[in-house]
Amino acid sequence: MPVIALANSKGGVGKSTTALVLAQVFAAQGAGVTLLDADPNQPLGAWAARDPERVPALLRVVPDVTEENILDHIDSAAARDPFVIVDLEGTANMAVSYAIGRADMVLIPMRGSQLDADQGARVIKVIARQAQAFRRTIPYAVLFTCTSVLRGRDFRHIAASLQDAGIPILPAEMVERAAFRAIMQIGGTIYDLGPGSDSGSGDVANPEAAIENAEAVAAAVVDYLKGHVKGDGA
Ligand SMILES: Nc1ncnc2c1ncn2[C@@H]1O[C@H](COP(=O)(O)OP(=O)(O)OP(=O)(O)O)[C@@H](O)[C@H]1O
Ligand SMILES: [Mg+2]
Repeated sequence: MPVIALANSKGGVGKSTTALVLAQVFAAQGAGVTLLDADPNQPLGAWAARDPERVPALLRVVPDVTEENILDHIDSAAARDPFVIVDLEGTANMAVSYAIGRADMVLIPMRGSQLDADQGARVIKVIARQAQAFRRTIPYAVLFTCTSVLRGRDFRHIAASLQDAGIPILPAEMVERAAFRAIMQIGGTIYDLGPGSDSGSGDVANPEAAIENAEAVAAAVVDYLKGHVKGDGA
């Protein structure tokens, strides 16, 4: 417990990257994490295989999660680990619905484009249907990803319309950073990166800023869970 699902039927919004970075922060902070890879493209399974030595001991990556086995995987992981993070495919499918139905929190990553926001709105409708089906509240929040200091008009407009619609926005963002791209490409964790580290091509400028950013997002997720999940001790 708790189960955090990352969903947006728009591809390439940062679901897998954010899932992985969050899992790395929780593991670095001493919590056991199961990362379920429910995307047929297997980005997280591939990440774990890239540099198995650098997969933290507290981080268990479960590849090949499908609509047939996702509920079993979520339930057994939730019984075992303080955090379960589910990375979903960038389309709407049964696995997405099942994961949302079981989630303690759905994170909806969005870049600041209207297309991402439109697909995000579709995910919110799935969340509402699952909440109705199971007669429970399913907490969710939008997480802006790949943000930069320069905010376009699109971004400001989307943020304002989400706020007007009463859609929760996480008070931290995944900033666009080379470190977050690098770990997906070379394996290992954000804590392994850095000038002078032995992670070869993983050297990126300013890995400390990426770590600080990742930890702020993880803290915002934990705060949100504390405020919305009853009696799980998160
Ligand atoms: N915060 C970030 N900073 C820099 N690059 C990022 C960030 N988040 C994601 N990316 C890059 O954007 C691309 C898409 O990210 P990612 O694969 O995480 O998205 P996704 O939503 O999981 O996509 P899909 O729908 O295909 O599963 C990748 O190349 C990734 O490295
Ligand atoms: Mg993905």
